[in-house]
Amino acid sequence: MQNISATVLTDIPDSLDALRQEILTAIDAAQDAASIEEIRVSALGKKGRLTEQMKTLGTLPPDERKEKGAALNVIKDEVAAKLAVRQKEIAGFEMQKRLEQERVDVTLSVRPQSEGRIHPITQTIEEIVTIFASMGFAVAKGPDIESDYYNFTALNIPPDHPARQMQSSFYLPEQDGKPVVLRTQTSPVQIRTMQKQKPPIRIIAPGRTYRVDYDMTHTPMFHQFEGLVLDEVTHMGHLKGCLLDFLRAFFGIADLPIRFRPSYFPFTEPSAEVDIGCSRKNGELKLGNYGDWLEIGGCGMVHPNVLKHGGIDAEQYQGFAFGMGVERLAMLKYGIPDLRTFFEADTRWLKHYGFVPLDIPNPALKG
Ligand code: DAH
Repeated sequence: MQNISATVLTDIPDSLDALRQEILTAIDAAQDAASIEEIRVSALGKKGRLTEQMKTLGTLPPDERKEKGAALNVIKDEVAAKLAVRQKEIAGFEMQKRLEQERVDVTLSVRPQSEGRIHPITQTIEEIVTIFASMGFAVAKGPDIESDYYNFTALNIPPDHPARQMQSSFYLPEQDGKPVVLRTQTSPVQIRTMQKQKPPIRIIAPGRTYRVDYDMTHTPMFHQFEGLVLDEVTHMGHLKGCLLDFLRAFFGIADLPIRFRPSYFPFTEPSAEVDIGCSRKNGELKLGNYGDWLEIGGCGMVHPNVLKHGGIDAEQYQGFAFGMGVERLAMLKYGIPDLRTFFEADTRWLKHYGFVPLDIPNPALKG
């Protein structure tokens, strides 16, 4: 391009060459898209300096007009070409500048000191679900506001049955003439699941539960998780093996022993309370195979009346159920001494006992 201009420009009169030089120098000096546009308008626009020169051609004698017209056309082409080149260069710089400014380094590690924490209840539920999911359980849910029927009657606790007094309930105003409670247990999810799904069933149902109670070891709202397994040949041995595997994985103690004690729950027959091995030496509670025992939950073989309420053929199917408190498991695993502190929303407590968001959900399961 430089060469072409050089040859053609030998014919350009000095007066026009000064103008040409001025415009080309301005183009070279331009640093952004706006100044390039400004130069374009001032040179080639309707009232631009080269355009004005073109307009004077008509007043010239034919010879001069021809010569000057040719020269002007050469200059116009040269200026237009140079503008285009510079415009492209500037667009390139500007894109480069934007890329630099908006750059996100995806290799940077997560900031170590984020303030937010996962609440120990959320963390513990996640751990429980992770372990049971690895055993083929699905998560099931039911409402916190539950009918008296699902919370009690369908679980083989008829009205006026003394077992209703085992759990002091929050009753709510009746709905459609029927009594309604804040569920006192996650067990109603058993019935809801059976009514929706045919065996084989393997579900885990974590969630909130409510009872009229408040002291060191009781809060009016707390969390439980329910387990239900129904199939054709499910027995008490499966139940014990399932809980043993779960509790060992959860606490990360490979030889943690468990023990079943005969008990009573209206919805299971036979029923058992589950204990895990511990030591209470020197007033310190330690989990493991130390000869002492600590109660951790309830379980049993699902009562035929419960299967009937769930619409399951009790002749063909049987199975087991279990229920445990989430806070209790969290307190034992993470050494949290007072249940009430879980729900005080104290950020210092949460900072101490909470979990950093991107941590692996269950450290006990690693390796
Ligand atoms: N629902 C019982 C409670 O809240 C716990 C429980 C015991 C659940 C035995 C079960 C079970 O599924 O089989 O105390």
